[in-house]
Amino acid sequence: MAQLRLDKFLCDLGLCSRSEARERIRAGRLCVDGRVVLRPEQKLDPACATVQMDGQPLRYRERHYYMMDKPEGVITATEDDAQKTVMDLLPPELRRLGLFPVGRLDKDTSGLLLLTDDGDFAHRVISPKSGVKKRYWALVDGLPDAEDALAFAQGLVLGDGTRCLPAVLEYSGKNECFVSVQEGKYHQVRRMLAARGMPVLKLRRLSIGALRLDEKLGPGGLCELNDEQLCMVFLDR
Ligand code: URA
Repeated sequence: MAQLRLDKFLCDLGLCSRSEARERIRAGRLCVDGRVVLRPEQKLDPACATVQMDGQPLRYRERHYYMMDKPEGVITATEDDAQKTVMDLLPPELRRLGLFPVGRLDKDTSGLLLLTDDGDFAHRVISPKSGVKKRYWALVDGLPDAEDALAFAQGLVLGDGTRCLPAVLEYSGKNECFVSVQEGKYHQVRRMLAARGMPVLKLRRLSIGALRLDEKLGPGGLCELNDEQLCMVFLDR
């Protein structure tokens, strides 16, 4: 792998700005291959070097993957002149990484949203060909039942003639249900439930593949995904 300056290495991890990285290095907090390095311009090969900050190992990542608990009321876009976007919720050091949302949640939908700078990964998650299932919890005006579940399983046809791929509806005898879909058409879950006469009152995405939303994050909370969590995106729950 190409050599990198130590300050760039730190900055690319999304830990701090380039100037903060220089300060940390000059303060003697960084070790490369067991030796304290005080020069920010010191070069290293991220694939081979062992880097520690304050004694903790740092692993270089060329690409970045985050989970966010998207709150209601913000739009899924990288920028907007008028409305608050999910990017506005990121801390400054992560805004520099060139992250973008993987797919879209409506302004009024909350829950699991992935952010990355890896276009191939995003494409694999979104593409219906990959068959990655997204699971939602919905509060509806109505009582979903077995007939609705059958209609979902057969592939619903929406009001405008759009045919949906087979989907799973789990009902409970209450005015709430779980819906799993393997594609991401515009307002899909809302339109599917509306097509069965049940307007959605609240919608929350709980999982993508076998990766579940960490409910401890809270609205707008964010965490980096580890390798195991990344693999789970492409597994069935
Ligand atoms: N389906 C919807 O209707 N809205 C979302 O935000 C996601 C899926």
